[in-house]
Amino acid sequence: MAEATLSDDPAISAPAPSENAPPDTAAAQEQSELQKQVARRRTFGIISHPDAGKTTLTEKMLLLGGVIHEAGTIKARKADRHATSDWMDMEKERGISVTSSVMQFPHGGRVLNLLDTPGHQDFSEDTYRVLTAVDSALMVLDNAAGVEQQTEKLMEVCRMRQIPILTFINKLDRDGLPPLDLLEDIEETLGIETAPLSWPIGMGRRFRGTYSLAGNELHLYAKKRSEQERLDVTDLQDPRLDDALGADPADQLRFDVELVREAGNDFDLDKYRAGEQTPVFFGSALHGFGVEELLDTFVEIAPPPQPRPTTERAVSPQEDDFSGFVFKIQANMDERHRDRVAFLRVCSGRFQQGMTLRHQRTGQETRTGRAMTFMAEEREGAEVAWPGDIIGLHNHGTIKIGDSFTAEDTTLVAADEELRFTGVPSFAPEHFRKVHIDDPFRAKHLGKGLTQLSEEGAIQVFCPMHGGSTYIVGAVGPLQFDVTIERLDAEYDVAATLGAAPYERARWVEAPDTKDGDALLEDFKNQFETNLFTDAEGSLAYLARNDWRLERTVEEWPRLAFHATKEHV
Ligand code: G4P
Repeated sequence: MAEATLSDDPAISAPAPSENAPPDTAAAQEQSELQKQVARRRTFGIISHPDAGKTTLTEKMLLLGGVIHEAGTIKARKADRHATSDWMDMEKERGISVTSSVMQFPHGGRVLNLLDTPGHQDFSEDTYRVLTAVDSALMVLDNAAGVEQQTEKLMEVCRMRQIPILTFINKLDRDGLPPLDLLEDIEETLGIETAPLSWPIGMGRRFRGTYSLAGNELHLYAKKRSEQERLDVTDLQDPRLDDALGADPADQLRFDVELVREAGNDFDLDKYRAGEQTPVFFGSALHGFGVEELLDTFVEIAPPPQPRPTTERAVSPQEDDFSGFVFKIQANMDERHRDRVAFLRVCSGRFQQGMTLRHQRTGQETRTGRAMTFMAEEREGAEVAWPGDIIGLHNHGTIKIGDSFTAEDTTLVAADEELRFTGVPSFAPEHFRKVHIDDPFRAKHLGKGLTQLSEEGAIQVFCPMHGGSTYIVGAVGPLQFDVTIERLDAEYDVAATLGAAPYERARWVEAPDTKDGDALLEDFKNQFETNLFTDAEGSLAYLARNDWRLERTVEEWPRLAFHATKEHV
């Protein structure tokens, strides 16, 4: 295998126009500032299975970025989250996750926005949806466990959107699977090519460090970060390797690297950017080993903010006019203000605190006087945000997941262009419950509450196709059910309980666009009456008892489309 080379993004290496010629107008100055800010941004999420080390790695990245100064800050928040269950604590829990949902930190002259992908019991549709707002992902694997279930699920979403993925294999200070087996596991389980950029020397108690395949650099491990060393070597034959590692480990390294270079894949920036290949690093988040090396490469190869599709056209981040979309809505922690925070990803232009936005779905103007920003130094109240950044808009239930916003005062609006971003779908729920209420007079409130909660995207609501008052609620993660019951009680004064529902899978069903399409769908409806429901937007959904039943139905009705995701336009 040839040595991997890391080329930079043209958007980054190309000098901004202002660096060559002084801009002569305010507009040109603004455009060059915008280009510079876009080129600096890297917006990403972490995909991992619980306990692989996401929190530890996040903390180490924030420490390196100088955003926190003490290990344990993020961990303490995580511990808080899981020790609590009553309503006030849930409020707090959500409040905490509002502020840790978006973490901005600097590295290598770039600005990184890390969007939290909640795991453990918090795993929900939000976890998936966060990935619709990133430009790339970091996959963290435990070296003893390899690819695990939650990583696989999240990877499906990355694949849907062709999100580039960089891999960090963690916990090399512990014994785990042989590195080649881990690469094979990634390739086979996730169907993505691997390209190792570093190679581990031993593991567990015999872990000595990593060898950088791209830069001929030896990185010597020590538990304390201050004792870790980087050593430049000419190549694998350099005798300094023997001096540093001892003759046997050095020979083993030579053997391993030759094998990997022969049998493995070259790093290919285009394949990585297309989501077809994942560059791999090895390290130990706990001891801060390999984290800087990972970030150094990440900021070079990960894509800056990318153009985003809308119903009309793709919107480039370099466009002057502000635009963005909402990918997540979360209840606010402050009990006195039962409002919600809508997380908006900036897609183009500059966001200025206080600017007036147009809410594209309703056509209404929205003032953003109190928008939350998540800046590295100043968490709230910063004045501007650029493409790739996230802002939090306060709202009282008028904003839905997937909603688009543009600047009110723009050339776009003058031209009456409607920009609605696509690609923020609902994901088929995987857990289902039947809703019961004791007091039938609260049925209307229950309906209202469930509809609003489903608009926030925490749960999905299904009504039997042929009427009836039994609601079925579906969620991607079961914690959402507890939240639903608590919020129905607190916000809608509805005492509801949830019982078992005999479903495990859901699919949105669509007839083919042919003459007989409607008739075909009618046949299907007649046959599956008891399994058919409408969701809060009136779309037809098929709920299946289990995987086997779903597969049979899909096979038996090859001309109908069964969708695992649903776009909101
Ligand atoms: P998560 O957010 O992905 O769920 O994982 P988290 O960082 O919380 O890590 C899960 C456990 O794995 C923690 O141990 C953490 O200390 C440990 N861990 C993370 N990275 C490494 C590593 O590089 N090497 C080793 N040896 N361990 C690592 P814990 O016992 O659950 O928690 P704690 O008591 O250590 O905080």
